[in-house]
Amino acid sequence: MNRATQPEIVFVRGRGAYLWDAEGNRYIDYHAGFAPHFLGHNDPYVTEAVIRGLREDASLYGSGTTVQEGRLAELICEHVPAVDSVQFLNTGSEATYQAIRLARAVTGNDHVINMQGGYNGWHNDVSNNLMTPLAQLGPRRAGGEYPYHPISAGVPLSHQRLVHAVNFNDLAGVEHVCQQYGVAALITEPILQNIGIVHPEPGYLEGLRTLADKYKFLLIFDEVKTGFRHALGGCSSLFNVRPDLMAFGKALANGYPIAALGGKKEYMDRFVDPDPARRVLLAGTYNSHPVPTLAAIATIERLLMNDGEVYRHTEKLGARMQAGLEAVAQELDIEATVARQGSAFCLYFMDHRPKDWHDLAEHHAFAADDRMRAALIERGVYPFPLATKQWSISAAHTEADIDTTLEQVAAVLLILEGVPLRRVAAG
Ligand SMILES: Cc1ncc(COP(=O)(O)O)c(C=O)c1O
Repeated sequence: MNRATQPEIVFVRGRGAYLWDAEGNRYIDYHAGFAPHFLGHNDPYVTEAVIRGLREDASLYGSGTTVQEGRLAELICEHVPAVDSVQFLNTGSEATYQAIRLARAVTGNDHVINMQGGYNGWHNDVSNNLMTPLAQLGPRRAGGEYPYHPISAGVPLSHQRLVHAVNFNDLAGVEHVCQQYGVAALITEPILQNIGIVHPEPGYLEGLRTLADKYKFLLIFDEVKTGFRHALGGCSSLFNVRPDLMAFGKALANGYPIAALGGKKEYMDRFVDPDPARRVLLAGTYNSHPVPTLAAIATIERLLMNDGEVYRHTEKLGARMQAGLEAVAQELDIEATVARQGSAFCLYFMDHRPKDWHDLAEHHAFAADDRMRAALIERGVYPFPLATKQWSISAAHTEADIDTTLEQVAAVLLILEGVPLRRVAAG
């Protein structure tokens, strides 16, 4: 369902920065398969590592540990300062599910805090309050929590009562919930990246750390989307805030299905506790499957090459895109703001960078954003076809790709209906 497009497109190939559909049309891809393809589609180095492993009879053994999984764990523990110990799963949702279960086991509490406008997977603890329409959201709840808005049918009422959504960048909201309930965990993306790019305000992530220590809940950074794309050490290294647990996925293996849950050893050891009453069950037939594990090792090797050349290249392209979009908006007198972190960005039709979902829901021109994306797809540029969603640049993109994209954005915005124009201050 979340892959449905209108009109329908059937893709048949992906290589580097490009996708091809069944009719032979080529697109410059910014959707990146929901963002994992940080190196581009079918990166040759990663592909070769996987093929070599299969030729050498790497298989799924289902018993014991494997050399590849040990190597991947070493790489992650070495390069992600907040990770002492790590376990591998198949999807980001599994990692966030296990993180919350572990937090409940450690704290003995049941309640969970998440973000209005955050996405942490499909399971019962987190399938709520994503892009809640303003009419349902009601007035801003500064220092409070929002009513529960499910994004899935079938979440038991008893479970819904355990989940509390607050505004991102609102420490008072977190404290408000902690004063009423026994909180096991707060889970958040360090930058909200399922509604574009919404940055933490200075001091916010540090404030979450302080509240976690005060109220004794586990702070979980969901770095499924931010991890490895913004820095090898994740956002926790960029912002220098140490969470208790971190979930990774997506860019970790450049599109192959693997996720990781890591963090402080004292908590991670619960997965291997000799006492069955304390042990947290972590199981999965395909955990540490050799194909995605080899892909993850090769991806990290690529990210390390030439002293982080991939990060320098994608930052340069991101800056070029941002400057180009700002120039187009200026030229056409459009009310627009670009929010960006390295290779990930979003163009919002509003006069400031959003600080949370409520701000966005109130000020962004959603219909124009949807129309812009649809028009770009017709012109061979493929963003995620839904308003406010992140655009993802990869290491395979070139300056020429960025310039072609900017030309197409300018052509579309010139004729697009409903784009807000800059308000000229009354003299
Ligand atoms: C921040 C974040 N967390 C968790 C998930 C869930 O990951 P998966 O789709 O691999 O289950 C996603 C997926 O988009 C995500 O963006």
